[in-house]
Amino acid sequence: MSESTILVERIEKIGIIRLNRPKNLNALSSALIEELLSALRIFDKDPAIGAIILTGSEKVFCAGADIKEQRELSFVRAYNTNYLRNLNDGLLGVHKPVIGVINGYAIGGGCELAMMCDILYAGENAVFGQPEIKLGTIPGAGGTQRLIRAIGKSKAMHMILTGDTINASEAESSGLVAKVLPVNEVFEAAVETARKIAGFSAPVTAMAKEAVNEAEEVGLKSGLHFESRLYHSSFSLADHVEGFGAFLEKRTPQWINE
Ligand code: CAA
Repeated sequence: MSESTILVERIEKIGIIRLNRPKNLNALSSALIEELLSALRIFDKDPAIGAIILTGSEKVFCAGADIKEQRELSFVRAYNTNYLRNLNDGLLGVHKPVIGVINGYAIGGGCELAMMCDILYAGENAVFGQPEIKLGTIPGAGGTQRLIRAIGKSKAMHMILTGDTINASEAESSGLVAKVLPVNEVFEAAVETARKIAGFSAPVTAMAKEAVNEAEEVGLKSGLHFESRLYHSSFSLADHVEGFGAFLEKRTPQWINE
């Protein structure tokens, strides 16, 4: 039997989901996405749960789309299956507040998954980045739309066009995360906050979350649609094949700009 890609537990009224593919730095395989969405749906429907925490390990949150899987995806398959939109749509459909606790890398789709959460707490070792440009593709799980809303155009463009990362204190000062704490304290702090939120009226909490999201999402739908089309189109580029191949072969990519 294959190992579970997530670990799930409950602390009082809080549902905890931990990404659990340590050998692949919690990369977003289809199996992980399915299990994550299913766990979120179960917690969301459960009246005993008032808030959800999504985290990785103390070393890594998530290194993004599974590069081995994405390399095999043609434009047509990505287009037909709406690759990664299911993750975005699934998170958007959760009524209960989701607190992301980010330690270590939140890179590519990992940074995008973090930004799908409602509140972010980061450990001091957190690193955020959108390195897709180095692989011959673009952020495809909301990054081009959400990063600009979170940290503004210039910083978002800088991250997306250079692939450079930012650390936890830069993430805090730019507004990407709500709090930065020592790694051994950040999870407990998130539990405290989740406990507080779970103590409020569940429908009011859901309404507050929905209203805040509405403000963020005006225009987001068409932006996400646009982003998906371009992201999937990048799969047909020779440079996409080169970038993904080079990563897996541990060599520097040779771009041909086609
Ligand atoms: N998918 C699949 N496997 C991955 C992975 C990913 N995204 N990231 C890392 N791994 C694997 C590595 O291949 C390696 O496996 P092996 O031990 O079998 O060689 C293992 O995880 C450990 O990785 P490293 O040895 O590279 O670890 P490191 O600590 O030296 O570096 C890192 C960490 C900087 C995050 C580096 O792993 C890295 O750059 N990973 C790729 C990150 C990335 O480019 N993500 C974007 C993916 S595309 C995307 O997400 C599109 C989108 O918008 C949705």
